[in-house]
Amino acid sequence: MRLAILLSGRGSNFVAIHQAIADGSLQAEIVCVISNQPDAPGLARARQLGLSAHLVNHRDYATRTAHEEEVLRILAQAEPDFICLAGYMRLLTPVFIAAWPHRILNIHPSLLPAFPGVDAQAQAIEYGVKVSGCTVHFVDENLDAGPIIVQRTVPVRDDDDADALAARILEQEHIAYVEALEKLRTRKWRIEGRRVIFS
Ligand code: GRF
Repeated sequence: MRLAILLSGRGSNFVAIHQAIADGSLQAEIVCVISNQPDAPGLARARQLGLSAHLVNHRDYATRTAHEEEVLRILAQAEPDFICLAGYMRLLTPVFIAAWPHRILNIHPSLLPAFPGVDAQAQAIEYGVKVSGCTVHFVDENLDAGPIIVQRTVPVRDDDDADALAARILEQEHIAYVEALEKLRTRKWRIEGRRVIFS
């Protein structure tokens, strides 16, 4: 299973996927890492690891389309089976999504459809939910809305702030992304409406 990773920052989900491959719990290969941010720690880590690492800085392109075209060009060369968004802070256009139908995955730090968008952990605290978690899902043209592959839950404690909850969720994100990829690799799956059905 060939994986491309798109990131903009810390890159801990990317590192978790890389680690799972290194220790044999995920049979896959990271064929490219693309960052839109020059100073992303995840990009530096990818370079250290000797992976095919690319900076495609959106500030260097006149339009969103021009930036995406370069990302798509690199992806076409790398021929991934799946594109993993891992803290990639750019919205993808419908053209991009249509180029890779049901091949783009994202991870979001809430139990979707609750709390899409930014600051999901703070939204969860503010709302007062007692359980939150993370969601790995296929990307469609709506924000944080595509068919769900894996979810994992965590408790929300009364004394949590957004940072404490984010740290608890992040531990589960690292497990969930690997679990989702391994399920897609090893199981037969199909999409019916919004549902990802594994058989
Ligand atoms: C994670 O919380 C992920 O759910 C969200 O962005 C964050 C990325 O973290 N989409 P990292 O860069 O993988 O450490």
